[in-house]
Amino acid sequence: MTLHLAAELYSPSDMSTLQQQPLLLLGLGGVGRALVRQIVATRTRHAERNRLRFVIVGLADSASSLFEPAGFADDHLITLIERKAQGERLGDGPLHSLPDDLPAETIVVDTSASEATLPLLLAAKARGMGVVLANKLPLAGPLAWWDALADERSRWETTCGAALPVISTLNTLLDNGDDVLRIEGALSGTLGFLCAQLEAGRPFGEAVREAKALGYTEPDPRQDLGGLDAARKALILARMLGYRLTMADVSVESLYPAEMDALSVEEFLRAVDALDAPMRRRLDELTAGGRCLRYAAEIADGRLRVGLVGVDPESKLGRIRSSDSIVVFHTRYFSDNPLAVSGRGAGQEVTASGVLGDLVNLARAMRTGAAPRRALATQN
Ligand SMILES: NC(=O)c1ccc[n+]([C@@H]2O[C@H](COP(=O)([O-])OP(=O)(O)OC[C@H]3O[C@@H](n4cnc5c(N)ncnc54)[C@H](OP(=O)(O)O)[C@@H]3O)[C@@H](O)[C@H]2O)c1
Repeated sequence: MTLHLAAELYSPSDMSTLQQQPLLLLGLGGVGRALVRQIVATRTRHAERNRLRFVIVGLADSASSLFEPAGFADDHLITLIERKAQGERLGDGPLHSLPDDLPAETIVVDTSASEATLPLLLAAKARGMGVVLANKLPLAGPLAWWDALADERSRWETTCGAALPVISTLNTLLDNGDDVLRIEGALSGTLGFLCAQLEAGRPFGEAVREAKALGYTEPDPRQDLGGLDAARKALILARMLGYRLTMADVSVESLYPAEMDALSVEEFLRAVDALDAPMRRRLDELTAGGRCLRYAAEIADGRLRVGLVGVDPESKLGRIRSSDSIVVFHTRYFSDNPLAVSGRGAGQEVTASGVLGDLVNLARAMRTGAAPRRALATQN
């Protein structure tokens, strides 16, 4: 329907002047499917504003894939993602390598939650294609992956706070020649919710079970409680600053002991009450003197720590809504009042919108050939 609207607004000659941007989408979960819907729904906007038309030439999930070299029609795309949401396969088998006839100007979009896409991303890079990632894992993996992926033909805004402009703000500060001295951030809405529950006096176990029941956690809540997701986001920011760190260098405070990894999810949810007392002691210690509890990341002096902290309720970290995210940049020019980006930092629709923004930004840069480098090679 939107396609028809675009055609009504643009004569055939106008339509032919639009940049036709081929896309290969890896991942058709909540974010990937929302992205397809948003691409279809914003065709007129991107034709008018950016002279751009996204042409989806391929789709892949973990087990199947489908290609249409001329681009799938919009109604076909919508049918495909509706069927996918109902558990149907896309068609052909899993995608092990990029098709030879994929155009060199293709952008490969990774909205999977898997490291298994890495060979496809590296192959795309080797062929000069663009890459847009919502998937943090390739960028938070070994430094060799980062070096291969984090270049001028990649965008990864949504890896740190969904559509919040965190990565673009950091790029602006770096382009400004400012010195980023310290970054602090609350990067997990789930852990923010839990901190608020603990401050309100709820026992830890009860708060964890409620967060799971409300759908705020991953199916296995330990994936949130372990702090790794927040650590990966912070690691990406640290690497953009030129710090050559890996996950092994990050100090991550897990909110449960490693022995509990051996339990099933159900066993963990029953056993988690054993953590009520130690968590209460930690809360009392950190919130003494009226401070408030946050699960925060701090990048300073080449070191990265992620864990529970007590903060001044009047500080930027102290003032955010419990489930929101915030990143605060302390810089040479933003020193007494540091620059903060905050708001909703998770959600499939808002994340898809951030991916779409990255696509527009990268497609335009690839058109003009004027894409700036996106990461410092070394800290200086
Ligand atoms: N949701 C958010 O708020 C948010 C915010 C920021 C960033 N992100 C990131 O965005 C990504 C997607 O999130 P989501 O909520 O959409 O996750 P999801 O619902 O779990 O979807 C993941 C999708 O990736 C597919 N996949 C897995 N391995 C693959 C492979 N090797 N090749 C191609 N596709 C593969 C899965 O295939 P099957 O369908 O076959 O299982 C599934 O379709 C994640 O990396 C997440 O961390 C999410």
